Amino acid sequence: MLEKTSKTAKITIDGTTVEVPVNKGSLGPDVLDIRSLYKQTGLFTFDPGFTSTASCESDITFIDGDKGELLYRGYPIEQLADKSNFLEVSYLLLYGELPTKSQYEDFSGKVTRHTMLHEQMLNFFRGFRRDAHPMAIVCGVQAAMSAFYHDSTDINDPWQREVATIRMIAKLPTIVSWAYKYSIGQPFAYPKNNLQYAQNFLQMCFSVPAEEYVVDPILSSAMDKIFILHADHEQNASTSTVRLAASSGANPFACIAAGIACLWGPAHGGANEAALNMLKEIGSPDRISEFISKAKDKNDPFRLMGFGHRVYKNFDPRSRVMKQSADEVLELMGITNNPTLQVAKELEKIALEDEYFIEKKLYPNVDFYSGIILEAMGFPTSMFTPIFALARTVGWLSQWQEMISDPNIKIGRPRQLFTGKTHRDYLPYEKR
Ligand code: ACO
Repeated sequence: MLEKTSKTAKITIDGTTVEVPVNKGSLGPDVLDIRSLYKQTGLFTFDPGFTSTASCESDITFIDGDKGELLYRGYPIEQLADKSNFLEVSYLLLYGELPTKSQYEDFSGKVTRHTMLHEQMLNFFRGFRRDAHPMAIVCGVQAAMSAFYHDSTDINDPWQREVATIRMIAKLPTIVSWAYKYSIGQPFAYPKNNLQYAQNFLQMCFSVPAEEYVVDPILSSAMDKIFILHADHEQNASTSTVRLAASSGANPFACIAAGIACLWGPAHGGANEAALNMLKEIGSPDRISEFISKAKDKNDPFRLMGFGHRVYKNFDPRSRVMKQSADEVLELMGITNNPTLQVAKELEKIALEDEYFIEKKLYPNVDFYSGIILEAMGFPTSMFTPIFALARTVGWLSQWQEMISDPNIKIGRPRQLFTGKTHRDYLPYEKR
């Protein structure tokens, strides 16, 4: 809960001083409440990319970028990755507390019973080209859900919001796995209710009707960990997109589709795909210095993918869990001396000792190792971002629920600093 302090900040413009309140959260920097600034001064603040702007009040996820700490509802990500599971974490994110045993059973039972898609939706998958990027399919089918589940699109009804939330958490694994199945020309595998969430997802991706498929517990546990690590990350680009879309009153299926579209970009969710492609392009440790030089060259747009973060100016805590998980999965798969993992570890070591990366506080982020694990599991690179979208859906929904249940919700409407042409009169062709 936001705490009003007695502190104020004074801003003096042309000899006139206005005072703005300084508010406190439970963790993190205080904020200047500038909501009345325009009214009082006629001035806007200018903050492209929101580098110094808190866009909302939230009690879901906290990141301390300098310490390299990530908390979901107060619980450190490392503890959740080690001891919890994705559905328990989903409950925590959505409702604020870890569930009791019966709450957990009720929640996971509901999610399990909503995993099937309306059979008519199969036609959507079949309408895409086989070589379509799975993110294009996932984004399209996600948006199309609003055309199928009319009984859960009224955002003013808490029961409908709850049903929509359960539906999306339950159906995203089906949508994502079917996007994959379609791309490789295999039959769609239906969900199985006797399997856990991550096991079921792997089953839908890798089983074929001709054979019995047994999910390896180490793989499903690594998959579950990937889901937990990606479940929420406070007000990142895609989450802010979901909130902005939702602020207009759009239905939840459309809002999550907007989040998926934003996540696709290589500076955000697409970075795991780009990171693995980069590691492969480097190919062997002796080419690392060439790529480090490119990343440091101001005239070269190349960046080390999987490095750097808007908020973390220290290790991304998720990358540590990922690195350990990469070792475990590769060992299980009997992949020793994996050249990509070798390049990744060596690159990390060299970059962390390099003056440029030290000075700019550029550390490996979650995407640096996740691609190596997913590839070892058998996923093509194009599936990395859809898997991220699947996991982040619960974060987006938690943030959406938090926002929509706030009675003071306002449409998001940033202002601008206009630098274009001033008023001028239309001229006919002959005078231009
Ligand atoms: N390689 C080389 N230089 C970098 C990198 C990088 N990966 N990241 C940042 N820098 C440099 C920039 O060139 C800039 O240098 P300058 O100050 O001399 O101009 C400085 O560090 C700050 O960079 P910004 O782009 O201003 O930092 P910002 O906070 O806006 O960007 C971002 C963060 C987009 C993640 C950036 O670090 C990046 O592009 N990383 C690579 C892509 C990536 O891994 N994205 C995944 C993010 S995590 C996620 O979405 C799950």
